[in-house]
Amino acid sequence: MPALISPSILSADFAALGPAVRDIDKAGADMIHIDVMDGHYVPNLTIGPMVVKALRPHSDKPFDVHLMISPADPYIPAFIDAGADIISIHPDAGPHLHRSLQSIKDAGVKAGIVLNPGTPVEVVDPVIDLLDMILVMSVNPGYGGQSFIPSQLDKIKLLREKIDATGRDIILEVDGGVNPETAKDCLAAGATSLVAGSAVFNGAGDYAENIAALRGGASS
Ligand code: DX5
Ligand code: ZN
Repeated sequence: MPALISPSILSADFAALGPAVRDIDKAGADMIHIDVMDGHYVPNLTIGPMVVKALRPHSDKPFDVHLMISPADPYIPAFIDAGADIISIHPDAGPHLHRSLQSIKDAGVKAGIVLNPGTPVEVVDPVIDLLDMILVMSVNPGYGGQSFIPSQLDKIKLLREKIDATGRDIILEVDGGVNPETAKDCLAAGATSLVAGSAVFNGAGDYAENIAALRGGASS
């Protein structure tokens, strides 16, 4: 199965997010990656649930909402109401990982866990039965345009084994510094979904070409 591509609108023109979402949808994006930052868990401030809700009519593709906020629990219902299809949380955003994942699942929304570059893979073990997605950060969270950290490839391989052992179809997504070169390494390591901000919204090529390049050059 070809890799899923989830362009991050963090690298889009924030004055024209609606058209950006429509354009990447038309260009073959499988999901829309939305980076939510609170200036506390990460040193940057971005998008809240009101913006997610405003973007919802612009695409029917799944909204892949990456919460970099602490605590996440008070805001999960608002993101669900805004139209999130997948909500991913960081385990150290606390205080109760299992409870947070359960609250997402109870609302009928897909739940994901996010591993920072310094987070060990074992963090997924006690909650893997609740997971629809495991998101591996290949940069430290907070900004687009950073360089891929190659040591995360071994983590992707270990997570591939853990996912295969469940027999379930958990999305294994990689986020940060993904470009056509690093994408190949991620897919070889067992990733099934790629987030890309600057590699899609780079001003060079059109979105469809950029997305196809991440898939390995096959046209969408
Ligand atoms: C970083 C975000 C990423 C980021 C990726 O905290 O989670 O989604 O936008 O941007 P690129 O692809 O430019 O590294
Ligand atoms: Zn992200």
